[in-house]
Amino acid sequence: MNRYFKPSIFFLSLLPFLIIVYKIYFNQLGPEPVKEITHHTGEWTLIFICLTLAMSPLKRLTNLTIWIKFRRMLGLFVFFYATIHLLTYVGIDYRFNWTPIFDDVLKKKYIFIGFAAWLLLIPLVITSSQRMMRLLKHNWRLLHKSIYLIAIFGALHYIWLSKTIFFKPLIFAIIIIILFLFRFNYRKYNN
Ligand code: HEM
Repeated sequence: MNRYFKPSIFFLSLLPFLIIVYKIYFNQLGPEPVKEITHHTGEWTLIFICLTLAMSPLKRLTNLTIWIKFRRMLGLFVFFYATIHLLTYVGIDYRFNWTPIFDDVLKKKYIFIGFAAWLLLIPLVITSSQRMMRLLKHNWRLLHKSIYLIAIFGALHYIWLSKTIFFKPLIFAIIIIILFLFRFNYRKYNN
């Protein structure tokens, strides 16, 4: 039974991508197609960050180690959706016109912090294998703690870019804070 879990989680994680491909193919993106793709991929990046962070608390709450087996895959999906999100902006929105892109990164704080979050994901992806885990030993844990910083950057990115609708970005920020507190409390009572 357990061997079906991972492929199922993989397929479920791929669904948001398949949905956007379907919408592109059948012209169902609405009046602002680029905005719709940016919105879809941006939100799913943040959802996958929350899911990745939720695996350790779930392990503790349920006393089941299976959650940890999904963590790496979910983390890689964070990068997958963040990269499509970035490519939509760089490739479709700006058609790889680098000057205004660099201008945006320097002048708009929400672009700057989003880009910083994406850059911070790269070392995590490169070191995500079991082999790298063994090679880096305790430094691996230290490095992978940056997922918390990435989560804060992702939430700030959403808050800063939302001029009027604050509800959704705040919900994400609250979920991330709760997941942080879980971690903090666990440390406090287990040291
Ligand atoms: C971990 C990294 C990132 C996360 C979690 C993230 C998340 C989000 C979210 C949730 C939205 C709001 C979608 C909406 O409601 O319309 C968004 C929008 C956006 N993001 Fe990101 N993002 C990330 C990285 C980036 C990067 C690297 C760039 C480009 C350099 C970028 C550029 C944008 C743009 C241009 C928008 C649309 C702004 C608008 O509607 O005016 N994001 N992102």
